Amino acid sequence: MRTETPPLIRLEDYRPSAFLIDRVDLDIRLDPHATRITADLALRPNPDGDPAAPLHLDGDDLILVAIDLDGAALPAEDFAAGPGGLTLHRPPRRPFTLRLVTQVDPTANTKLMGLYRTDGVYCTQCEADGFRRITYFLDRPDVMAVYTTRIEARRDEAPVLLGNGNPVESGPVGTDRHYAVWHDPHPKPAYLFAVVGGRLGKVETSFRTMEGRDVTCAVYVEPGKEDRAGYALDAVVRSMEWDERAFGRPYDLDVFNVVAVAAFNMGAMENKGLNIFNDKYVLAAPETATDADYAAIEAIIAHEYFHNWSGNRVTCRDWFQLCLKEGLTVFRDQEFSSDMRSRPVHRIGEVRSLRARQFPEDAGPLKHPVRPTAYAEINNFYTATVYDKGAEIVRMLKTLIGAEAFRAGMDRYFAENDGRAATVEDFLAAFAAVTGRDLSAFARWYERPGTPRLTAEGRYDPAARRYTLKLAQTLPVEGPPLVIPVALGLVGAGGPLTGVTCPALDGGVFVLDRPGAELVFEGVAEEPVPSLLRDFSAPVRLDLALSDDHRLRLLARDSDPFNRWQAAQDVALSLILAFDPVRADAFAQALGTFLDGEALADPAFAALVLALPTEGEAADALARDVDPDAIHAARRSLRARLGRVLRARLEGIDAALAPATEGAYSPDAASAGRRSLRNAALDLIAAGDPEAGAALATRRLSCATNMTDRLAALATLAQIPGEAREEALAAFGERFAAEPLVLDKWFAIQATIPEPETLDRIERLTRHPAFSMTNPNRVRALVASFAMANPTQFARADGAGFALVGRFVRALDPANPQVAARLLTAFGSWRRYEKTRRAAASEMLNGIKGVPGLSRDVADILGRTLQ
Ligand code: ARG
Ligand code: ZN
Repeated sequence: MRTETPPLIRLEDYRPSAFLIDRVDLDIRLDPHATRITADLALRPNPDGDPAAPLHLDGDDLILVAIDLDGAALPAEDFAAGPGGLTLHRPPRRPFTLRLVTQVDPTANTKLMGLYRTDGVYCTQCEADGFRRITYFLDRPDVMAVYTTRIEARRDEAPVLLGNGNPVESGPVGTDRHYAVWHDPHPKPAYLFAVVGGRLGKVETSFRTMEGRDVTCAVYVEPGKEDRAGYALDAVVRSMEWDERAFGRPYDLDVFNVVAVAAFNMGAMENKGLNIFNDKYVLAAPETATDADYAAIEAIIAHEYFHNWSGNRVTCRDWFQLCLKEGLTVFRDQEFSSDMRSRPVHRIGEVRSLRARQFPEDAGPLKHPVRPTAYAEINNFYTATVYDKGAEIVRMLKTLIGAEAFRAGMDRYFAENDGRAATVEDFLAAFAAVTGRDLSAFARWYERPGTPRLTAEGRYDPAARRYTLKLAQTLPVEGPPLVIPVALGLVGAGGPLTGVTCPALDGGVFVLDRPGAELVFEGVAEEPVPSLLRDFSAPVRLDLALSDDHRLRLLARDSDPFNRWQAAQDVALSLILAFDPVRADAFAQALGTFLDGEALADPAFAALVLALPTEGEAADALARDVDPDAIHAARRSLRARLGRVLRARLEGIDAALAPATEGAYSPDAASAGRRSLRNAALDLIAAGDPEAGAALATRRLSCATNMTDRLAALATLAQIPGEAREEALAAFGERFAAEPLVLDKWFAIQATIPEPETLDRIERLTRHPAFSMTNPNRVRALVASFAMANPTQFARADGAGFALVGRFVRALDPANPQVAARLLTAFGSWRRYEKTRRAAASEMLNGIKGVPGLSRDVADILGRTLQ
């Protein structure tokens, strides 16, 4: 019995539900193995639905205990029920109520979808289709109901009982039980439902909204860890303030709760009034969390909070519209972080992650449109394309119509769709209405998979003082052109050229909505270097042949920080792909001048300039016959050379930043920037002189006062084989033996050591007492880090790296298909390897294909990867 390719659900087949559910009254009796759920559903036929259809309720792994219709037991011949669904053959064609009693086992729920337990805490995850693992339901986002939830549990087991909406009442039940009732007045789809029960500590504060509502905001964590929840709570308040200021969106309940749990399949979830988080994105103290952790906590708290409007008040009609809430909400959280931190530095980070995750996805077999048209398993579409390319589309829209019209369009979108389940068309219609523009060509961004290529070629005519720039777009799949906003300018030897005219430009942006165009600039006094795609104005690949000198002029002189950074990246990438010592030294000289001039003025930016393109980016640029060993060696020698040439300057930076970074820790962006530059300097010194680097890193480890510096030193040391490394790793492991989130960093550092012994190391670490196959964070730290961030060992020519990941996919699949499927996406670029590795990957993938009983999640990824 082989796993077949799972059937597809198609956008074109969307039909309104035959029935609607207006009210849901739940009574949940929490029990470790036999939780009983009584659901009273107020149903009615949908006037827009099929009047003759039976009523089919979704179910997954459910036991039906009882079923009543309007208070009377339903005769057996009137319905059919199984673990996977419930059908009423002859449902009433008028409003009616169904009472369903179901039973579930939260302790046995290893999929972490529906109701489960983690470290003794009951919690839920219902997106995308987990509510059907709690009760039978019309589990689709266009069915929106008002929920009242009564939760009952043993008081000692679950002293805290939380639900969606506002608390209504609570009290004792007998001697050792208690209950709480929650009511959520805002109609919502079932995927936003949540309950939590457990022993939890909390920190709280209050916030008064622009409408004068007093909101109690609380963050719940494992008791004893309250002192690590303060940063997340502060981020909640800043998010609330920001959404009022930036988008005019106030909060709409009396309480806003965030709960951190240990085992969670993803980052976090925006359940109405009750966000549930992976504890990695809540808990932070200077001794355990890095600057990057603080930034991620701030961003994800904001993301989930912003969903309250972009996702909850306005939700999605169906799962094909996922980008409607995710792309928009990522855009909103990016804007928030940019306002909280350095905007250019944040933008560079966004683009790095887009290129690292979304570009390869869009170039391989798992590519899909930002709005997919078909899926077998929706949980496999929470992708970089939907989220991050989805956010880029919103950003382009804002660039095209301008900030004011964008805000007006957002206001209109929220006003027109509040309380509705909307589509991408509804979103674009709001902007079309406020601008009077036809956005139908722009809408192609949602439909076309693949990364477009923008080619540019310039010609300077000194006699006419004229510069001509030819732009053209090439799309990976044939079809009408996309609307590409290209922000651009011309840079002369002394900086951006002034007195230049180009009528085709509007506010520094040219909109390329044709296959090609020619821009003419007049009054150009010297041969310019074009600075294209400033601030990364569109998610495309840019082909522009420039000399190193011209690129380095952009690094030195451009007014756009993104393109300054990009210029250094471009030179570095070409040196990784084809090394040349003369060019490398010229590059080092330019970096040196840059560092002398401004490293200490903007350390975070300088650290990014020093961070060369990753091996993954180099592989992505090669696109075929990738040999990760060759890329690794090339990048390493470039870094070694830069480290040697820049040694004195790097030591100068290290010394200059010592006083500021060794004082008391603060997670703010400026302090984090100083640490990142100092640690980048350390890493580059070590690349040039491993012996000196190891000594310096060891010293840094012994005096580090925060996790950022400690981990950076350990990561540097981990790249240098020897005693010092092994001792440091062992000491770190012992020191943080009781800190799972810190051990995750330790697992990941070891899993990404680019040496053949890493495979044995990983096998050894799977037997470490802190490792666990049932906690997704542990698996991601040890195995996904290896698969996604250790290119030479994952893609070993002997296939041993692929085989290791394949074994984990198989072992995980029966227990947690979502995590198994996500791990398998590491093979998304397998066809790009040279032929030995390609053959090894193919063998491994086909081996999994033969495994009987694969989950739909894994079968879907596998089928598409091999196709
Ligand atoms: N909506 C959540 C977020 O904020 C993520 C949910 C992911 N769900 C899933 N089944 N993968 O982005
Ligand atoms: Zn989201």
